[in-house]
Amino acid sequence: MHRFHYAGADLHCESVDLAAIARLYGTPTYVYSAGTMADNFQRLQAAMAGLDVRICYAAKANSNLAVLRHFSNLGTGFDLVSGGEIRRVLAAGGTLAESVFAGVGKTEAEIALALEHGIHALHVESEPELARINHVAGKLGVVAPVAFRINPDVDAGTHAKITTGKSGNKFGLPLRQAVAAHEAAAKLKHIRIRGVQMHIGSQLTAAGPFVAAVEKLRPLVARLQADHGIEYFSIGGGLGIVYQDALASGTAAWWETQPADRRPLTPEAYGAALVPLLEPLGLKILLEPGRFLTGNAGVLLTRVEHLKRGADKNFLIVDAAMNDLVRPAMYESYHEFVPLHRDSSRRALVADIVGPVCESGDCFAHDRRLQEVGEGELLACLSVGAYGFAMAGRYNTRPLPAEVLVQGSAFELVNARETFEQMTAGEKIPAFLQ
Ligand code: LLP
Repeated sequence: MHRFHYAGADLHCESVDLAAIARLYGTPTYVYSAGTMADNFQRLQAAMAGLDVRICYAAKANSNLAVLRHFSNLGTGFDLVSGGEIRRVLAAGGTLAESVFAGVGKTEAEIALALEHGIHALHVESEPELARINHVAGKLGVVAPVAFRINPDVDAGTHAKITTGKSGNKFGLPLRQAVAAHEAAAKLKHIRIRGVQMHIGSQLTAAGPFVAAVEKLRPLVARLQADHGIEYFSIGGGLGIVYQDALASGTAAWWETQPADRRPLTPEAYGAALVPLLEPLGLKILLEPGRFLTGNAGVLLTRVEHLKRGADKNFLIVDAAMNDLVRPAMYESYHEFVPLHRDSSRRALVADIVGPVCESGDCFAHDRRLQEVGEGELLACLSVGAYGFAMAGRYNTRPLPAEVLVQGSAFELVNARETFEQMTAGEKIPAFLQ
């Protein structure tokens, strides 16, 4: 469910007309609904009732400072993967006390930064990494709280590029090495084993793979509790969202009309499947959702440059491109496009929706059917609040887009569109070329 809806003929985010935002700040612009993020957080929290649960928002999904502050105000911790993300949480006024630091290649400087700011735990991906953490903690004269990430070798049934819990993936320790690795870790002077972690992939649309992974790890978790006194089990993130019927999925009515066997994974179904498996452990449970909290809480506003009618195809050329939103080019992902102003008297148009970047891969949608729109008219691309701006780049020397946060009838620019001067600030012509 989300708070994007038509009020009359005009698409709104909460109580704000999105066309007003486009007029004020231009396009392409990401717009986020703070209310939707809060709803998603509360719904997930409620679905896990019965557990001592802590939600650590995966900042990689959307790390705008305002978004991090919003989650910090809501009471989440954070799942962080770089020194940059750690600094973002601090800059947003958050703390690391309930946050975890993950990633397969943390540098010594990043490990030190996390320890200096009192990170809840570092999630460790290998034994060499543990040795590095022990070394850095020794230099700082502290004991590093850690949790090994275990690779349960289950198929998450999602896109190959976002599957992480198979034995062929680079992530985590193989289950059969786990006991020995913990025994070795317990002997290290500057290491304290605080928990255990898994994350099998992203955009999971069924509870089955989560259940399979938790069942596979449960005996190990119980053993680590007995042998090493661990406090928590993090089951990672991965809860999927609706992309295909994104606009309609904003209302409860849509969910009720979905046949039970085709209903996308809800937090309630996720909780119902997992709470009974996790409760008997008596451990604190960490969740690391990214996409579920922010994905359907963001849209990308874009303006039509031209409607180019081709011999075999029509092309709707818009002012957003693969540098602003890379997901379709990178994962063949589907994103719904809707007009900001709906007009039922218009004819339908079937077109490829493409950006201006000089690559055929700069295509958001193939043969998409939507209301006929022309130059200067506005569209919203839906479900881009996660891994949208966060993965944006500057290809073709296009500036990073603007970001706006809405709450009720209030809205504010939370990231101004980049300028040419900002884009080129670090560049210079060397003396030997002058
Ligand atoms: N925890 C760990 C250890 C992770 O690696 C990830 C995501 C998460 C939590 C959050 O997963 P989520 O709840 O968002 O599924 N760029 C891709 C997604 C990459 C996910 C990477 N890891 C996309 O646009 O689909």
